[in-house]
Amino acid sequence: MDTHRIALVPGDGIGREVIPAACAVLDAVGARHGVSFSYDEFDWSCERYLSEGSMMPADGLDRVRGHDAIFLGAVGQPGVPDHISLWGLLIPIRRQFRQYVNLRPIRVFEGLESPVRGARPGEVEFVVVRENVEGEYSEIGGRLNRGFPEEMAVQESVFTRAGVTRVLDYAFTLARSRRGYVTSATKSNGIVHTLPFWDELVAERGALHPDVRWDQEHIDALCAKFVLDPARFDVVVGSNLFGDVLSDLAAAVAGGIGIAPAANINPERDFPSMFEPVHGSAPDIAGRGIANPIGAVWTAAMMLDHLGHAEAAAEVKASIAAVLAKTDVRTPDLGGTATTESFTRALLEFVGR
Ligand code: NAI
Ligand code: MG
Repeated sequence: MDTHRIALVPGDGIGREVIPAACAVLDAVGARHGVSFSYDEFDWSCERYLSEGSMMPADGLDRVRGHDAIFLGAVGQPGVPDHISLWGLLIPIRRQFRQYVNLRPIRVFEGLESPVRGARPGEVEFVVVRENVEGEYSEIGGRLNRGFPEEMAVQESVFTRAGVTRVLDYAFTLARSRRGYVTSATKSNGIVHTLPFWDELVAERGALHPDVRWDQEHIDALCAKFVLDPARFDVVVGSNLFGDVLSDLAAAVAGGIGIAPAANINPERDFPSMFEPVHGSAPDIAGRGIANPIGAVWTAAMMLDHLGHAEAAAEVKASIAAVLAKTDVRTPDLGGTATTESFTRALLEFVGR
């Protein structure tokens, strides 16, 4: 029996509802493949912030450094500013554990109607590769003259040769195992220092991967193409901010944010990688047991892939596709009446079938 130690951080709101659902699927598929999981649960969250003053303890990162992976639900709660939950937990983990690749796959499933008329099942299937530790999400800058008419804010974007090169190489290598096509998101017509540098590095790395076709699009035109022609894409690579925005748009094209998975990967495996659905804590529906668990379950499949269990991962993904194609069991965000629990039960029926 292969056992993996997983650090579980359900977080806030529906994070606590979808993580148990995903763990039930992990346990079921694991049992079929000789894999077991031992979960260590951590209460890091906005709720902890409100009672103890911090999202996680000072030695938080050391407590999970030795785990095989981190599986996180979502953090965020009304009354706690969103930058506290982001900078107090997610960003320190991503940066200290060098999770410089944020991987966000998406596809249009049979049985799940896309709001985009031309987005058909079997045709739309691509992955956004987002740079995850530098770029526009930088701490360099500041504010001056608060409260005066001269009040100002400056925030510097940081693009390094090492940082851009490694995420581009990841994208080109990934494309080789897929349809062999990379699209780079840019805006080098308007942003005249960082993004021309990004474009140069894309050309440089692209030349080293002659078996991969690549092109680039300005971010505004690219957004339009996500909606008008989503089937054309295979691997889309972008900076921290562009990748973040594009992946929510991609999730919407596929039918909703509740189904979208994400992985924060440290490719060198010097540190644990972190797996979290794209969606947030959804305070508007939290506590009612109706959250869609697909995003978290698909995220669990990405974790299985990362841990070396590709067959088990494929089974989980196939079970999601099967419930959507063969039943009308849906949570309310997808127009149904199922609960998180009853949807998960339906999923479990299809695991391995
Ligand atoms: P959100 O993703 O939590 O919710 C957006 C909308 O989608 C809501 O109407 C929600 O009900 C719906 N939704 C999201 N996931 C769903 C699911 N699995 N099933 C059914 N419906 C679902 O984004 P929002 O409202 O912008 O943020 C809420 C809180 O979550 C904020 O505090 C925000 O900072 C935090 N957040 C945390 C993230 C994380 O932990 N990685 C990511 C995004 C937001
Ligand atoms: Mg986002």
